[in-house]
Amino acid sequence: MLTRSLLFVPADKEKMLLKINHLESDIVIIDLEDAVAPDDKQYARNLLKRHAPSWNRPVFIRINSTGTTDYDQDINLINSFGNDVDLEGVMLPKASCQDDIIKLANYLEKIEQRHHLTTSYQIMPLIENAIGVKYADEIASASERIFKLAFGGVDFINDIGAQETKQEHELLHARSEIVIASRIANIGQPIDTVYTDFQNSEGFMESSRFVKSLGFSGKLLIHPAQIEPANKVFSPSREEVDDAEKLISQLRHQSGTFQLGGKMVDKPVIEKAYRVLNDHKAILNQNKEENNGSTT
Ligand code: COA
Ligand code: MG
Repeated sequence: MLTRSLLFVPADKEKMLLKINHLESDIVIIDLEDAVAPDDKQYARNLLKRHAPSWNRPVFIRINSTGTTDYDQDINLINSFGNDVDLEGVMLPKASCQDDIIKLANYLEKIEQRHHLTTSYQIMPLIENAIGVKYADEIASASERIFKLAFGGVDFINDIGAQETKQEHELLHARSEIVIASRIANIGQPIDTVYTDFQNSEGFMESSRFVKSLGFSGKLLIHPAQIEPANKVFSPSREEVDDAEKLISQLRHQSGTFQLGGKMVDKPVIEKAYRVLNDHKAILNQNKEENNGSTT
């Protein structure tokens, strides 16, 4: 599954929920946590119960955090879906330690057993406080259900008492910790935080290019206008694909280190070229599936 663009849709906004099957983000995350006021959470769950059976795109639900009564009710909601809903998994906000993940994994396992589900729900921990960053590696390896780590920068800034800067300096250390923890746990590249100034497309692109350079595979999004730019930034460019193809085509004639167009080529450069081509192929496959009306 591609993870360039993951759009949040507030669970209490029926008008937005009705758009889910037409959104072009790689993944949709329906939010029952911060986007929904406490008094509206039950209303939102009822809406999801009604609309969830019609979803035909990869969907995660962001439930409320561990230890809240809303968490228990959100788990009950997922239990009520049974076989009727095609849900990829659950995003866990404020993920802070291994136990948070193990507890959730146990609940999900029970639900799957109860309904004899043949697929297993995945877990996407959202790292958004200092303790989550400290234990990111343990969180990332806490369960086989871990999909990828995601970073929640807005809560993180509040948690550590930092100031938001245009250059996002205050996020750099945590971002790199999350990339490294993901690599150690071998779970694939993580997903970066939302960019709240959604009308500033230049700023969004700049931030996205920067986090791609740090090692993120995509971004959490809040508005449909961010989908296309995210898909563009987090896909290999035409030039990258052409260069990778040229390089691989040379391999038959070369051995060891050589130069191509004035640049050194050795093992890691070759590995990167294969990665670019694999990413490109995955995107072409997804586009083909979507054109055929299937997005699994
Ligand atoms: N998902 C689906 N549709 C969305 C959407 C979203 N996240 N955000 C906006 N839209 C739709 C709107 O419904 C509107 O549709 P319409 O043209 O049919 O009326 C269209 O896109 C344009 O929206 P716009 O008027 O520019 O914005 P808005 O004022 O309706 O919404 C926000 C702005 C920020 C409130 C909204 O984007 C939002 O709720 N985002 C998600 C917030 C969230 O989940 N936060 C938690 C995680 S940080
Ligand atoms: Mg939050």
